Amino acid sequence: MLITDAMNKKLNEQIANELNASYHYLSMACRFDHMGLRIFAARFEQQSDEERGHALRILKYIQDVGGEVSLAALARPRDDYNSVLSIVQAALDSEMNVTRQINDLVALADQQNDYATRSFLQWFVDEQVEEVRSMTDLLQLVKMAGESSALLVEARLMKMMAAKKD
Ligand code: FEO
Repeated sequence: MLITDAMNKKLNEQIANELNASYHYLSMACRFDHMGLRIFAARFEQQSDEERGHALRILKYIQDVGGEVSLAALARPRDDYNSVLSIVQAALDSEMNVTRQINDLVALADQQNDYATRSFLQWFVDEQVEEVRSMTDLLQLVKMAGESSALLVEARLMKMMAAKKD
């Protein structure tokens, strides 16, 4: 095996962290749908899929380096949100939290002179910059528009989603 048991354990924990983030985004997407905000719901569903992709990326890496994948139980995601602002703020908090988790993994890789894992993690470091930026932008828009203008934010969000696909 190319990684230590400690690194294997931390990477397994990160699979669960990413899947919990995916589950949380799905729960937030359902709240948006319940509010009648279908574009917000679609954006958060898309983010949920991305987080699952992150988990699978780590899972595949553990297999590539001869480690053992061990899946943990997922936590019940929060679903008592009652405003657009509270959901987007929670999403940003979650991204900040994942950024800290990725940084901890990088620190462990550095400490162990584990260059393979350090290199693998760089994609996640860059991805977190993009995701924190994107959620910060959305939070700013929601704050500027106010809760009653969420539909206007949706129009902007639709353009942002189309631009991301191009
Ligand atoms: Fe996989 Fe948005 O962190």
